[in-house]
Amino acid sequence: MEYLRNAWYVAGSTAEIGRKPLRRVLLGEPVVLYRKEDGVPVALADRCPHRFAPLSRGRLVGDDLQCGYHGLRFDGAGACTHNPHGGAIPRQARVRSFPLLERHGFVWIWMGEADDKPELLPDLAPFGRHDGYATVDGYLRIAANYQLITDNLLDLSHVEFLHAAFAVEDVLETSRTELVRDGDTIHSNRWKPACKVSRFLRMFWGSASERGDARANMRWDPPAIMFLDVGVTEVGAPVADGVTTPFLHLLTPETATSTHYFWAMIRDRQVGDAEVDERVRRIVTQAFAEEDEPMIEAQQQQIGPGVDLMDLGPVLLQPDAAAVNARRTLARLIAAERSAT
Ligand code: FES
Ligand SMILES: [Fe+2]
Repeated sequence: MEYLRNAWYVAGSTAEIGRKPLRRVLLGEPVVLYRKEDGVPVALADRCPHRFAPLSRGRLVGDDLQCGYHGLRFDGAGACTHNPHGGAIPRQARVRSFPLLERHGFVWIWMGEADDKPELLPDLAPFGRHDGYATVDGYLRIAANYQLITDNLLDLSHVEFLHAAFAVEDVLETSRTELVRDGDTIHSNRWKPACKVSRFLRMFWGSASERGDARANMRWDPPAIMFLDVGVTEVGAPVADGVTTPFLHLLTPETATSTHYFWAMIRDRQVGDAEVDERVRRIVTQAFAEEDEPMIEAQQQQIGPGVDLMDLGPVLLQPDAAAVNARRTLARLIAAERSAT
């Protein structure tokens, strides 16, 4: 499986990386994550160069990670700082360290060979801002290739069939879809004028109107970073007057057939209301973990491992345009990266 390597992927949420070494397989490679005493996050290859034990089974000594097997110690740059067995530190005693960036509530990792480029991380504001917003976030591991999940997110017509809490009857007939390309960024917009308002948006809307102008506009940036602008206003009113509840969907391949799926949702209504947080978590978890996940995992099983969906000659429908564009863009970037090395 080939991945785009010179790119940012989520390694973990800001909250889950701390002073306890965390092992995670990313792009097929085991990585160990932790924070130094000053809070700066570290990512090292999770393989000791002595007997290849996972370093994540070790423990932190100050800013260094001590192997749990025979005690070699490595700093955040991967250099061996201590050999408890006497003699010099062998020159090959080092591990790879990966550049990290902490933004928008997540720790992002760069696993490519080229120098890391912070400017390649798209702007995901206002995620990560704590003033005036409530955040609910979560994580799922899905036993499917990440591109099947990208397909799912770029074609939200599936909401009407798979997700009762978000569905609105007859909306497919009246909604207007739009595909906008901006360099390597793809916008898959779904405008739903004067539609009945979903149960989910009603939680925040506080209007007695039966109908509103709703929208679900997804922005995709390579490799698998998605920002969903979702909201509703009174019919004919400007977007800024209504409710906005944006979502992030961030996919990191674990292997060719498994994916780390990080999501977050923010809102500027009912901020500080823990009961609303809990309801949001319940509804979103039900949609993602009990409705999307089993469908996508069954789809992966049906397709089989190591098979690219596009090689099977799938029937293409109108709402597939964005996903097909994203797949082509990613394939082009991966091919360009390969030919450059
Ligand atoms: S395996 Fe790490 S010190 Fe021996
Ligand atoms: Fe879904």
